[in-house]
Amino acid sequence: METVVLKIEDPVKQSAQIERAAALIRDGGLVVIPTETVYGLGGDATNPLSAQKIYAAKGRPSDNPLIIHISDPRDAEKYAFTNELYYKLAKAFMPGPLTVILPKKDTVPRETTGGLDTVAVRCPSNAVASAIIRAAGVPIAAPSANISGRPSATAVKYVIEDFDGRVDMIVDGGESEIGLESTIVLITENNGLMLLRPGAITYDALCCVCENVTISPTLEGTLSENEHPISPGMKYRHYAPSAKFVLLDGNEASIIKFLKEEQKRCRCAVLCYDEEAELLSGGLLLPIGKRGDLKTHARMLFARLRECDTLSPDIIYAHIPDKAGLGLALYNRMIRAAAHTVLNVED
Ligand code: TXA
Ligand code: MG
Repeated sequence: METVVLKIEDPVKQSAQIERAAALIRDGGLVVIPTETVYGLGGDATNPLSAQKIYAAKGRPSDNPLIIHISDPRDAEKYAFTNELYYKLAKAFMPGPLTVILPKKDTVPRETTGGLDTVAVRCPSNAVASAIIRAAGVPIAAPSANISGRPSATAVKYVIEDFDGRVDMIVDGGESEIGLESTIVLITENNGLMLLRPGAITYDALCCVCENVTISPTLEGTLSENEHPISPGMKYRHYAPSAKFVLLDGNEASIIKFLKEEQKRCRCAVLCYDEEAELLSGGLLLPIGKRGDLKTHARMLFARLRECDTLSPDIIYAHIPDKAGLGLALYNRMIRAAAHTVLNVED
């Protein structure tokens, strides 16, 4: 199929283009949309055939449920059973990078929810996404726009790499502002929250709205072999670059010493802090922002992992992130990309 790439910078001035994308969604087509987190591979969430097309285009197992995107937090009523805590979360964080799992209504087909009785609801803040959802008049089901197992796409060139010829339209909305997928929470029976996937809405931020926030055993790595993760996506290997990816733990001096030795020994790519670029010059360096600038690290991580693949290094190294604040989301993506390979280089 031929894929139209359409750049939309101003959804108000470009309402004709918004309508064109929305009409494709309504007609059961697939449209990649920009969001503030990562690009999403969108289709009509109320149409079982659209859901099937999404799974096929992404190469994703159809038991891995999709998030439905709405343009007003109150629209959740039409598709899910909400409660007071949902509205507290909506007031604090929506529109924005938060996804809430709620019991689903029959308006959402099981194809969209991977057979589950619950549905993941998110109201993105990206103006283009919001305008397309509103114009479509239906919620948009959208997983991250990457072929299953690859890093999520944070710029249109990566979307084109993965989906040119596989979707009806790709809407170019520039680089994703946040760069990591949304925070996912489940509202538990006792009116608490369980954090299923960390994102830009941090654990601490959730604690300001709810007294009882727990972290999913899958995230803590305490899930035993015969247990199933609540968020099915968490069981799949993810974000992985082709080369072996190792996270380094240790003090700064030991890490630099280790990397210099490695640079002599092999073709290693390093996701380094900007300050380290000079110290390590000559190697395959992929700066991800200044030390401690977690927002920039988050924004650049997936693009850097994709770039690594084009360099065909023997091995990739990066600093293991600290788990505080936004660091927990970075840690979660990086530890999975590295298949839990951590090396302590302190001597
Ligand atoms: O930021 C985001 O959330 C992006 C943008 C496009 O909105 N979307 C995204 O979707 O990351 P996806 O499909 O790549 O990841 C959604 C995760 C998966 O791990 C899936 O298993 C989980 O959400 N999920 C979806 N519905 C669920 C449900 N009803 N119960 C538990 N987990 C669910
Ligand atoms: Mg994804």
